[in-house]
Amino acid sequence: MTLLIAPSLLSCDFAKLGEEARLMERAGADMLHLDVMDGHFVENLTFGPPVIRALKAATALPLDAHLMVTNADHCVDWYLDAGADYVTVHVEACRHLDRVLNHIRERGAKAGIALNPATPLDFAEEVLELVDLILVMSVNPGFGGQHFIERSTERIAELDEMCRFAGVEPLISVDGGINEQTTPEVVAAGATCLVAGNAIFGADDPAGALEAIKAAGAAAQLEREEELAGDFDAFDPEALDAGDLLER
Ligand code: DX5
Ligand code: ZN
Repeated sequence: MTLLIAPSLLSCDFAKLGEEARLMERAGADMLHLDVMDGHFVENLTFGPPVIRALKAATALPLDAHLMVTNADHCVDWYLDAGADYVTVHVEACRHLDRVLNHIRERGAKAGIALNPATPLDFAEEVLELVDLILVMSVNPGFGGQHFIERSTERIAELDEMCRFAGVEPLISVDGGINEQTTPEVVAAGATCLVAGNAIFGADDPAGALEAIKAAGAAAQLEREEELAGDFDAFDPEALDAGDLLER
């Protein structure tokens, strides 16, 4: 799967949102990550549907609305109406997750789930067939510019394995503390979409920073693909005897 990069506008200049979005488009972004915060699910407050609607008109990039809100069960339609292509809800916030995900897809959009760093991955396992994107939070949500939580890499690898086993291929997105240094390990573990805010908009040259993360990710993905192909070539079914098969 081609590696995607989704700049988070959380760290951009809110006085020129449209320009920042177009700058990312020109720089080679694949999607825009929009952090909706309600002051309840997380302490912070950002923006809601009207801003998403305005951004939809300002850029051709797909929009992923990352809903850090407590009322996602009742309000996903607002974001779908505003033009979000992906609507990503927190599993910790949805009382009726199965219903919400089905609803997003029935409306013709892509359904995503987000998992906080301390949330068991089993929450994802129960709805794997219903999701197009799994957002692994690699910081506790609420603010940009935090440090990457190391354990996230292992969680990405576990999710990747879970998806392979189930025969599904949602995007595995990672959000929080992603930069040129943390990118290789998350991509090696199986991340297919990188969300980055501070590393891009905090840089003197945001477009250059995006390109650097993308290049680091592409190199790591190539290495991973070669390793996976190597594992496959090394596998010789004829070398297995019946005992081996039973053990597997
Ligand atoms: C945090 C948000 C992130 C945030 C990531 O709650 O969900 O999308 O923008 O920012 P950085 O890349 O600065 O850690
Ligand atoms: Zn986010």
